[in-house]
Amino acid sequence: MSSESSASTGHAASASTHADDKSLGVQLPTDKELVLKVIPMPRDCNANGDIFGGWVMAQVDLAGAVVPARYVDGRMATVAVNQFVFKQPVRVGDILSFFSSVTRIGTTSITVQVEVYAERFRAQGRYIKVTEASVTYVAIDDFGKPKKITKT
Ligand SMILES: CC(C)(COP(=O)(O)OP(=O)(O)OC[C@H]1O[C@@H](n2cnc3c(N)ncnc32)[C@H](O)[C@@H]1OP(=O)(O)O)[C@@H](O)C(=O)NCCC(=O)NCCS
Repeated sequence: MSSESSASTGHAASASTHADDKSLGVQLPTDKELVLKVIPMPRDCNANGDIFGGWVMAQVDLAGAVVPARYVDGRMATVAVNQFVFKQPVRVGDILSFFSSVTRIGTTSITVQVEVYAERFRAQGRYIKVTEASVTYVAIDDFGKPKKITKT
C-alpha cells in the first residue's frame, strides 16, 4: 500500500472540498489502542466513488480481532456485529486509523468497540470519526466449538 498511489487519485483530490471537511479536528481516543492504519484504494470504491461499506466492515473485523487475539491464544471467530455506524463516507486516499478497546470479556467471547478516524487527503493530521462498531469474537477449539478464555 503506497501513499503514492492514493496521492495520485483524482477522487481524493476533489473529495477534499466536501462539506464535512470544514468541520475537521476531533480528538483521537486516549482510552483505546491504535490497532490498524490503512489507506483505501480505488479498487475499494462503490458506484458513488466513495469507499464500499463492505470493505470498511472487513477492516473493522480485522482490526477488532487484534486485542481479543491476545486473550484467546488460538483460533477465534467473529460471532456478531452488534452495532455498526457509518458516520461519514470514507474516500480514496484517506488515512484510516482504527482504535479498539475491550468492552466485555465473557466465558468464551470478547466484545470490542472499534472507532475509525479518517485523515482526509490534503488534510492529514486532522481527524474525522467515520465509523464505529461493536464486534464480538468467540474463542474456538480445533473443532470450531467455543472454548473458555483463560487469560485475563
Ligand atoms: C462462533 C461459534 C463457534 C459460536 O458457537 P455457538 O454454538 O453459537 O456458541 P454459544 O451459543 O455457546 O455462544 C458462544 C459465545 O458467543 C456469544 N454469542 C453467541 N451469539 C451471539 C450474538 N448474537 N451476539 C453476541 N454474542 C453472542 C455467547 O454469548 C457466548 O459468549 P460467552 O461464552 O462469553 O457467554 C459459531 O456460532 C460459529 O461457528 N459461527 C460462525 C463464525 C464465522 O464463520 N464467523 C465469520 C463470519 S464471516
